[in-house]
This record gives sequence, C-alpha cells and structure tokens, in this order.
Amino acid sequence: MISFKNEIAKVISKLVNISEQELVKYIEIPKESVNGDYAFPCFRLAKELKKAPPAIANDLKRNIKFDENIIDKVEVVGGYLNFYINKELLAEEVIKEIATNEEYGKSSIGNGKNIVIDYSSPNIAKPFHIGHLRSTVIGGALYNIYKYLGYNVTGVNHLGDYGTQFAKIIEGYKRWADEYDIENDSINELTKIYVRINNLCKEDEEVLNICRENFKKLEDGDSYYVELWNKFKDLSLKEFQRVYDLLGSKFDSYNGESFYSDKMQEVIDKLTDTGKLIESEGAKIIDLEDKGISTPCIIEKSNGSTTYATRDLAAVLYRARTYDYDKSLYVTSYEQALHFKQIFEVAKLLGLDEKYIKGLEHIQFGMVLLKTGKMSTREGTTIKLEDLLKESIKRAQNIIEEKNPNLENKEDVAKKVGIGAIIFNDLANSRVKDEIFDWDTILNFQGETGPYIQYTYVRTESVLEKVQYIPKAEEIDTKELTDEFSKNVLKLLYNFDNILEQVTYKNEPSILSRYLIDLSKAFSSFYNENKIITENEKTQNARLYLTYAVGKVIKIGGELLGMKMPEKM
Ligand code: ARG
Repeated sequence: MISFKNEIAKVISKLVNISEQELVKYIEIPKESVNGDYAFPCFRLAKELKKAPPAIANDLKRNIKFDENIIDKVEVVGGYLNFYINKELLAEEVIKEIATNEEYGKSSIGNGKNIVIDYSSPNIAKPFHIGHLRSTVIGGALYNIYKYLGYNVTGVNHLGDYGTQFAKIIEGYKRWADEYDIENDSINELTKIYVRINNLCKEDEEVLNICRENFKKLEDGDSYYVELWNKFKDLSLKEFQRVYDLLGSKFDSYNGESFYSDKMQEVIDKLTDTGKLIESEGAKIIDLEDKGISTPCIIEKSNGSTTYATRDLAAVLYRARTYDYDKSLYVTSYEQALHFKQIFEVAKLLGLDEKYIKGLEHIQFGMVLLKTGKMSTREGTTIKLEDLLKESIKRAQNIIEEKNPNLENKEDVAKKVGIGAIIFNDLANSRVKDEIFDWDTILNFQGETGPYIQYTYVRTESVLEKVQYIPKAEEIDTKELTDEFSKNVLKLLYNFDNILEQVTYKNEPSILSRYLIDLSKAFSSFYNENKIITENEKTQNARLYLTYAVGKVIKIGGELLGMKMPEKM
C-alpha cells in the first residue's frame, strides 16, 4: 500500500531543511478526524526558524505543492499543518490489499531475526492459578504477532520443576501414597501431600534430613527418585495441558528449571573467574550495590544449593547459544522485577556478546485483583485457572440461553465467547496496570470486551450471509466510500500493519486490543448510519465490501490475540 506518511514527508522535505526519514517520525495521526488524517507539528522548527509555530505552519501551507491524487487539502490549526488524504485513493489502496492478500497485515520485517519468549511457566505440583493466566495470554499474543511479522519465534515454557519441594513430595508419597488419588486430582493431591510432609519436616528434623538426602539422590539421577519426579511432572503437565487446550496455547520448548541442573556449574565457574562472586554469610553472591540494586544476587545458598537465579543465568547462556536471539523476553508479573534486574545485570559477567545482553527484556504485567482484593496462593484465595475458564464458558452459555436459545452449536460458541472474554480482558489495558477481575464487565456484550469484538465480527458475517455474495474488489466504486463513516473505517483498516509493528516495539498487545475496539466502534457507526443492503447496487457493493474487509481484519486481529471468532452468536 502507498505510505501516506512518506508522501507527506516528501512534500514537506522540499520546504524545510530536514530529511524525509526524519520528518516521517514527526508526523502524527490526530485523535480527532476534524484535525485531518495526518498532522505535522511545527513546534520543532520554531527555534531554528526563529518564528512562532503558527506562522511556520502558515508559511508551509502557502508554499506547499502536493499531488491532489494523494492529498485532498492542507489546513493550519494552531502550530499544526493538517493533511487530509485523498479518500478515494485510501479506499482503493485498502480494497486492493484486502483482495490480494489473504493474510492482511502480514509482513516480513522480522525475517532473519530470532525472538525467544519465556511465558506461562507454571510450577510443577502447584496450582496453575490466575497469575499464570496473564503470562500465558500476554506471551501467547506476542508470540503470534511476532510470528505474523516474519520473526522466527521460540516459545519457551520455563517450568518450575526443580527444587527441594519435589524431594519432600516424594517422601510424602512414599509414606502415604494410598491415601491420595494423585492420578485424578493430581495437583490438588500433590499439594496436600506437600503441605503434610512439610509440616512433618518442621516437627521432625529427622524427616527433613531424609528429604535432603532424597534431593541429593534426585540430583544424582537415582532412577527410583527420577521416575517419581517424572511421574509428578507428567501428571501436572497433563493438568496444565487442559488449560492450554482451552486457551489454545502452544510452546516450542518445555525446558524448565531442571533442564539447567547440569548447566549451572559453568555459570558458577564463569562468575568465579570474574572475581566478583563473593562469600557472604556462607552463601556465594554477586553484589550489585554499585549497579543501583541494593539486594545482592544469590548464586549459591549457604547449604550449597543453587537458586532460581542461577538457573535463569544458565538459561541465558543456553538461549543465546541455541537460539542466537535478537530479543529474549520474559513475561511475568512485576513482582519479579527485582529478580530480572539482577539476572540481566549479572548476565553481563558471563562473557556473552553485547547483543545478547541488550536483547534481554522483562515484560512485566500487573496483578489480577478480585473486587475483594488480591488473589494469592498463600492465603488460599487463589482461583484455579481451569475452574475460572469453565466458569466463564458456563456464564457465556447462560447468556446465550437467555438471548438466543435457538442458536446452533451453542456449546462451541459459548466456549469461544467465554474464553475470548477472559483473554481479551487480560489484554485490554496496558499490561503494567493491575487488572480488576469482574464477571459482569468482561462478559458484557456492549462493553469494551472480547464478546463485543466477536459480536461485531458476527454482524459482518450475518450481513454477508443475507446477500449470499462478496462483491468483486475490482468492481467497487470507491466514490461510494467517501462519507465520514466509511472513511473512519478505512483509515483504521489501512493502519493495521502499523498497529502490529507498534505492538512489537513496546511488547504491548493492548495496542492491538484497543485497535480492535476502535475498529468495532467505527464499524458500528458505519453500520448504523449507512444502509448496507439498498436498492442501489453500486452503493450496496461498496458497503458490502467494506463490511467484508472489517470482518476479515477483526478475525485476523482477534486470532492474533488468541481469541476465536464464532460465525454466529
Ligand atoms: N515459575 C515461575 C513462577 O511461577 C515463573 C518463571 C518465569 N521465567 C523465568 N525464566 N524465570 O513464578
């Protein structure tokens, strides 16, 4: 498609002493369409030209020469030069692209670049709770979007499958296996065993020592212990998989913490060589005070065991070598901000190429809050994610039952709507914000929700179904799409690829979520103001085509976020 920004930069560059490339960066898209489709702020020129911005804008306007096939008109508002693009050209460009490109917005800008995304990463034998949901959903959306832009993406599920707690669970299992049904309600039962044996360890030093020995055996690869540990892992994964199936999540690697058990020595050796690994109260640490991080990074505890941090450092080495990443993203809540600050700082001591250090990024997100406060594991107020997803599907089912009881495939639709609502809710706002979880809001078909977007898609589908055809793109008369409502829709469609790029610049899927809301609203106004099915065939075809285009982009965009689109609802 033609780049209107570039065209505008080109004409301005003839009048000022700034390169086209630089000018493109200045050009803004005004929030209100009364201020044009693009705006050039003259403030930055004021100093150099020693003139007030409005005077500069007027000067530019007087001298500017533009091609009327591309730009309709130019106006001055305050210190801005506002551009109105040629509406017919806009329509023509969008329609041509929609018609010829099955995967609208797809690009190859990421070709040759490797992205690693570490997301979801729940802990074995512990509940997969709503806190992991955000990681799974945000990471999943980023995964899809990077891929769509041509990046080579590796999704890693860095499972929490290492540590003394497994040695404890093994001990508990050895003692009380027949009292727990770990085959069926695996994680719950394993958690119960863990709580019980942990209490026993607190009371009885002897048991604790046995557990420590168990851990040693596990680390040394004793087959009985490894087998049990594998069993717990498999059972947990089976439960996690049920959640992933509901959400549609996929990973390329399940290399969790235990994968690095034989790769940590290298980290310790490398850090030792730098002379920065120091002893403190029996532990081995890296002091980061001079880097502005007041808490040191513990590499080896006083009892000789390694830490979560050591394993993450081994993972940095491994990922750099295995994936040769350009970016390596870690999607977790902001509660782990300190941990990643430490890791990224200590990683500088591992002798890696600068590129790999620069590529490390913590993609942090806010907490999920219930109306009653924080959900936490310790206080037992956690909601199991699987239950939550099922609850959402059930609620969606109830709404369908009430509003459209004769709908076909009700179960499938309820699943798409229920899951879509949860996914969208997680992505609707800037990720660092805490999120309030409230059923009434997330399932509201009229609100800024997943179901609203799905509903918009269904509307586009039902229009097309009514007429039973999609008009030919070449036959569309673009003059029919020059009204304000059509133009707003077209502008959004035109901007889709740019939106996807912005998501990757900021690793912020909410940019796409907001876009889909804007597009849905713009379509809704178009639909309410313009009769789509009319006597005038030319008008009808143009509007039908726009409807078809909106449906297509909503479907692509929604699916990139991880939502599925029902055909009817
Ligand atoms: N298992 C951790 C948790 O549940 C998240 C792991 C994130 N990834 C990492 N490489 N540290 O909090």
